[in-house]
Amino acid sequence: MTIETINRLWIEVCAVTDIPTRGARRISGTKRPIAIFRNGADEVFALVDLCPHKRGPLSMGIVHDRSVTCPLHGQRIDLVTGELMGADAGKGCAPSVETHIENGRVFIPADAFCA
Ligand code: FES
Repeated sequence: MTIETINRLWIEVCAVTDIPTRGARRISGTKRPIAIFRNGADEVFALVDLCPHKRGPLSMGIVHDRSVTCPLHGQRIDLVTGELMGADAGKGCAPSVETHIENGRVFIPADAFCA
């Protein structure tokens, strides 16, 4: 399903409940791999699924509040900004992807998908 908000086309990717609590779901068919995260407060975030440290799969990480711990070397990444946290803060970023939630469904911008 697609929806249009002010000058923006969005594509539905899943239901919020399809994303494991404190986990993630990887979206396919996009230009770059995208991980959609859900924390314990049912907040939803999306990042390019490549850790800024050495490109590990963030979608396989563990979500804590508004951060995810990468499964490869344990770096923490801010789910809002995509920035590395802790001692490596400012040394890298996983690009964030906008999300739109409507009626419990998660949408991301249509331009995130391949043409
Ligand atoms: S690749 Fe993510 S912490 Fe190293």
